[in-house]
Amino acid sequence: MSSRLRQGYRALVIGATGALGQAFASALTQDPRCADVVAIGRSGNATSASLGSTAGLPPWDVRDEASLVALAAALTGPFHFVIDATGALTLDGRGPEKRLADIDAIGVANSLHVNAIGPLLLLRCLSPLLGRGERVVWAKLSARVGSIEDNHKGGWYSYRMAKAALNQGLPRWPVKFLHLWPPQTPPPELIGDRV
Ligand SMILES: NC(=O)c1ccc[n+]([C@@H]2O[C@H](COP(=O)([O-])OP(=O)(O)OC[C@H]3O[C@@H](n4cnc5c(N)ncnc54)[C@H](OP(=O)(O)O)[C@@H]3O)[C@@H](O)[C@H]2O)c1
Repeated sequence: MSSRLRQGYRALVIGATGALGQAFASALTQDPRCADVVAIGRSGNATSASLGSTAGLPPWDVRDEASLVALAAALTGPFHFVIDATGALTLDGRGPEKRLADIDAIGVANSLHVNAIGPLLLLRCLSPLLGRGERVVWAKLSARVGSIEDNHKGGWYSYRMAKAALNQGLPRWPVKFLHLWPPQTPPPELIGDRV
């Protein structure tokens, strides 16, 4: 994948305190083509000394739009490869619903906020930091259970609903961004991978 990005590309890993975010950040530090990896978690702290300092970043949360505006102002672009590895299956101490009786409106709304609305807000607020006039990739981790076709197991209602909503929201955004990119240059690309 990185061979499609320019030599010396800069990467931003969002949600780097999580299992997959950490794994992506550490894999990117091993890529000789990658000049810089900025790995951030919502506390604003760097996750590893080898990833460089992110001291000075404000705390942020994908549910808080103003905090994302402040985060964008504190980060220095351009970035050519962004991985958004934020997301939550368990929220406020409540795991995924196993039975219909476990569903409550607040839990569903919270999951939609973190897993579907938050990633779109992140994209909106941080997109000015993407490189212009060169190939850039924004990758968002979704989940296989968000697939409408692959929906045989039941349960996990709010997470499944939120990931399905995410899957609907993200694939269209490169089209919306076309007008921002200079003519003759590739617009940002969305890599969709459902795990
Ligand atoms: N692991 C899997 O098997 C699997 C399978 C399918 C899909 N996924 C998806 O892959 C992504 C990463 O999964 P993971 O296993 O690495 O999850 P994880 O270990 O729970 O990490 C989740 C990350 O999201 C951050 N986060 C949660 N709520 C947030 C909020 N409101 N604002 C900002 N950041 C927030 C967490 O920050 P804190 O550390 O501060 O909480 C953490 O950095 C998620 O979208 C998940 O749905 C994972």
